[in-house]
Amino acid sequence: MATTLIRGGTVVTATGRSLADVLIDGETIRAVLAPGSELLGVDLAASVDRVIDATGKYVIPGGIDAHTHMELPFGGTAASDTFETGTRAAAWGGTTTIVDFAVQTYGQRVEDGLAAWHEKAAGSCAIDYGFHQIVGDVDEASLAALRGLADEGISSYKLFMAYPGVFYSDDAQILQAMQVAADTGLMTMMHAENGPAIDVLVRQLLEQGKRDPYFHGVARAWQMEEEATHRAIMLAHLTNAPLYVVHVSAKQAVAQLAAARDTGQNVFGETCPQYLYLSLEEQLGASSDEWGAFEGAKWVCSTPLRSKHEHHSDELWSALRTNDLQMVSTDHCPFCMKDQKELGRGDFSKIPNGIGGVEHRMDLLYQGVVDGQISLERWVEITATTPARMFGLYGRKGVIQAGADADIVVYDPKGHTSIGVGRTHHMNMDHSAWEGFEIDGHVDTVLSRGRVIVDDAQYLGRPGDGSFVKRGLSQYLV
Ligand code: URP
Ligand code: ZN
Ligand code: ZN
Ligand code: ZN
Repeated sequence: MATTLIRGGTVVTATGRSLADVLIDGETIRAVLAPGSELLGVDLAASVDRVIDATGKYVIPGGIDAHTHMELPFGGTAASDTFETGTRAAAWGGTTTIVDFAVQTYGQRVEDGLAAWHEKAAGSCAIDYGFHQIVGDVDEASLAALRGLADEGISSYKLFMAYPGVFYSDDAQILQAMQVAADTGLMTMMHAENGPAIDVLVRQLLEQGKRDPYFHGVARAWQMEEEATHRAIMLAHLTNAPLYVVHVSAKQAVAQLAAARDTGQNVFGETCPQYLYLSLEEQLGASSDEWGAFEGAKWVCSTPLRSKHEHHSDELWSALRTNDLQMVSTDHCPFCMKDQKELGRGDFSKIPNGIGGVEHRMDLLYQGVVDGQISLERWVEITATTPARMFGLYGRKGVIQAGADADIVVYDPKGHTSIGVGRTHHMNMDHSAWEGFEIDGHVDTVLSRGRVIVDDAQYLGRPGDGSFVKRGLSQYLV
């Protein structure tokens, strides 16, 4: 097995930073050493197969994106990134593990939905991957299937309080699933929006002729998110089940999570880069020569982008600092404008919901370090270490220490990244939700289990490099 030395860099973890060299033996980290590359009198640089010079750069654990939807059938079409294209784009951006959502649709067995997801991903991925399980039809059979999930290495499942007729679960179904989760240690992930009430508002807006993408954000009002978040917290409290609320965008939902956490409840929340940087007015309300007011379709996702006048983004950054929110995932669910988002021209409710961003999360959050929103260590924590702990990967992933997988990113704080289609963009999309964003940093080198798969503007990996990772139960519970 090849040996590699990453020399001269600043190793950054969730707990601190230090000048150190990292010795890799095959797929794992052998040692983190005082700078100088000497071990018991042996000059390591002269004896390893490969030396990577990281002088002046950060050496961080590879990113873990715990919320992606490769190839998801949704909104009358399917997410445009396959496991092959989406995980390659992730690697380009310094993410070395994804946790994607296997789907049980209405009327299907959970086991069959999961098997189909394994089939899609096997042999295709550039990086390691795990699965959460979407349960779209809670009944006796799926509750029984939940009991066997942890043995499959799937320690979390997602329910939807939104999307009636698609993935929606009512309170009775949620309660029963949470009872099983409390019993088995599974993490319940919740899409917290009041779907039935939203559907009424959608119908009323369409009847009033309000059909542009902007009204997607009007219909999915913050009250819908706050109410559902509160309800999910109460059901989790009653059943003593740990709860993780996905794609939090409203400051009022953050307040609900914070209040529950203050009582000691095992309640957690993630936000996504789109909610930290983008808004209802500037993106959902955008207009262009090419698309007119339909331009905003590029940013139709749920929960929706929020009003800049209500300062949700400021509160989300603040919550990331105070640990009222624990981590950032992308909710990567890309659709092209042509033939996909276009399905909703003239009716915003038919626009496939989702934004692509798996490639840019590490950079966009690093910009938060540059802008003074979060510390360098917190950047590593919310993009790698906490995702690993939250979803049962820690020790193997999310940290630079002896024995861990050698999933490592060399990040250049003096580098620069211009985001956009045809520039840094490797996702399978005909536009970028992040067109024109400039990042004061750069992903230089990416190692996945010891292999260099990205080396400054060169892709060296192959489909099938990544393997399915069985996850344990959450390591983040109080
Ligand atoms: O708009 C979104 N978020 N699409 C993906 C599905 C989901 O709800 O996470
Ligand atoms: Zn969701
Ligand atoms: Zn999602
Ligand atoms: Zn560079």
